[in-house]
Amino acid sequence: MRASEDRVALVTGASRGIGREIARQLSARGISVCAGVRNHGPESLIAEGNSAASVLYREIALDVTQPDSVREAVQAVLRMFGRIDILVNNAGISDGDHDALRLDVEAFKNVMDVNVLGAWRLCESVIPAMTANNYGRIVNISSTLGSLHHLNRATEPAYRVSKAAINALTRVFAARLSGTGILVNAASPGWVRTDLGGPNAPRSVQQGADTPVWLATLPEDGPSGGLFYDRAPLEW
Ligand SMILES: NC(=O)c1ccc[n+]([C@@H]2O[C@H](COP(=O)([O-])OP(=O)(O)OC[C@H]3O[C@@H](n4cnc5c(N)ncnc54)[C@H](OP(=O)(O)O)[C@@H]3O)[C@@H](O)[C@H]2O)c1
Repeated sequence: MRASEDRVALVTGASRGIGREIARQLSARGISVCAGVRNHGPESLIAEGNSAASVLYREIALDVTQPDSVREAVQAVLRMFGRIDILVNNAGISDGDHDALRLDVEAFKNVMDVNVLGAWRLCESVIPAMTANNYGRIVNISSTLGSLHHLNRATEPAYRVSKAAINALTRVFAARLSGTGILVNAASPGWVRTDLGGPNAPRSVQQGADTPVWLATLPEDGPSGGLFYDRAPLEW
């Protein structure tokens, strides 16, 4: 396995919240990080975290709902580094709580576009580069709200359905990539204090990012096709 300072990660939704913290923690481990952000400007090229010359942290433009943006972002990372070893599908939205009997089709489509199709687009675009190196770590940021085992409340129905779908997508890609050296897992960060989670959430972004970063840096004999919370398996 390559030394961590040679590895390259792409994190979606890294402008703020859990995604930004995942990007920061990966960088602190000596991994070169491309932090995908929607509102990217020339001033966004930043260096932070590890100051080693070989380690870079830079923001790149990435809207996961736009196929052109996904393609260009992945090409930009490959131009810069020639490889992508880690993909963290973190970008996520919720349309909030509403009665499941009143479906807002457009709102539901938006949630699915970011939370599910966004991750699918990134996987499709990144996996050929991982396959070429027989190495990859894909982490899909899910939620306990998407666990069918724990699903006994009707709050945030669109968000729950989208997170159940990303769990299914995790299993599909883990099966598709079995034996390739690419490990695909999902993580629930728990209820975290972010713009999405709100100020009353009990967990910090550092706690929320811990399991995704662990999954992003799994050894070769690490699990694939699992859902994890605090580094332990969580029921689907
Ligand atoms: N916070 C929690 O309690 C909690 C619990 C369970 C799971 N999660 C999951 O954790 C992940 C991160 O959530 P968070 O709490 O950190 O949320 P957040 O603070 O609201 O941040 C969401 C991130 O997603 C980005 N994003 C939204 N739409 C995007 C798009 N079309 N393309 C690219 N990026 C987009 C946002 O970018 P902009 O800044 O450009 O809007 C932002 O960087 C999500 O998948 C969420 O479902 C969170």
